[in-house]
Amino acid sequence: MRLLFPLLLCVAAALSSAVITSPLNLWTKLILTQQWPNTFCSMEHCHPNLSYWTVHGLWPNKGNDCNSSWHFNSSEIEDLLPDMKKCWPDLLHPSSSQFWKYEWSKHGTCAAEAASLNSQHKYFSKALELYHKVDLNSMLIKLNIIPSDKYYTFSEIEEGIERFYGAKPKIQCVHPSKNSEPQILGQIEICFDADFTLQDCEKHFSTDSFSRGQWDHPLDVNKPSGLSVCDHDIPVYYPPVIPGYPHV
Ligand SMILES: *[C@@H]1O[C@H](CO)[C@@H](O)[C@H](O)[C@H]1NC(C)=O
Ligand SMILES: *[C@@H]1O[C@H](CO)[C@@H](O)[C@H](O)[C@H]1NC(C)=O
Ligand SMILES: *[C@@H]1O[C@H](CO)[C@@H](O)[C@H](O)[C@H]1NC(C)=O
Repeated sequence: MRLLFPLLLCVAAALSSAVITSPLNLWTKLILTQQWPNTFCSMEHCHPNLSYWTVHGLWPNKGNDCNSSWHFNSSEIEDLLPDMKKCWPDLLHPSSSQFWKYEWSKHGTCAAEAASLNSQHKYFSKALELYHKVDLNSMLIKLNIIPSDKYYTFSEIEEGIERFYGAKPKIQCVHPSKNSEPQILGQIEICFDADFTLQDCEKHFSTDSFSRGQWDHPLDVNKPSGLSVCDHDIPVYYPPVIPGYPHV
């Protein structure tokens, strides 16, 4: 028994750590969220001086703040900084790395539980890679969905994007305060499975039986006030930016 007891403890420890790191418990979906700076800035009072969609975040569908001791360190992504500044700008604090630090702590540390994203460099470079790969800006232009004073129907936008990617996006708007007003296009989510293959955002993934109690739907924790899934029946306004601002 003297030998057996420590052995049993080891087995128990091995089993419990196997449970914690089990793939069953890992995120199964990544959500690449992009924002339209003009709409974001109309809510947050910043200068929307960019006329292209920018990254808001790359969010795994499970977990928040998964490792508080893993601090953001911009030296680790030095080579990515020019692209980060362009594609993932902090619209509220230009030239600060606050936004990246926040996204890393909240979502990156959880994404990093998968071997494919287990460093800051892997996480941020994957986000940039997916951003360029989906190329939302050119895709919308190809669909002839262009910021203008004309209103779109929600299905024109949703079905166009879905046809193009072969996967359902999740689209968020600022809702009108009056019945006669349009909703304003604000954020577009494009989803991937753990192998970075495009997936329907609504698609239901196999649920895990033992979560760590960290389940937190990214939609709820990240939506700026006033932004939520667009209404199918309200016209959509895609607000143009003052001409002369840089395009991607
Ligand atoms: C946008 O405006 C901010 C604040 O006025 C400025 O710091 C930033 O450099 C501008 N960005 C671009 C791309 O013009
Ligand atoms: C949390 O991050 C620290 C610092 O990078 C690392 O040493 C540690 O292994 C991480 N913990 C987990 C559970 O991943
Ligand atoms: C940040 O990362 C760089 C490059 O990997 C490393 O040399 C430096 O020690 C890190 N700084 C901190 C505070 O961890």
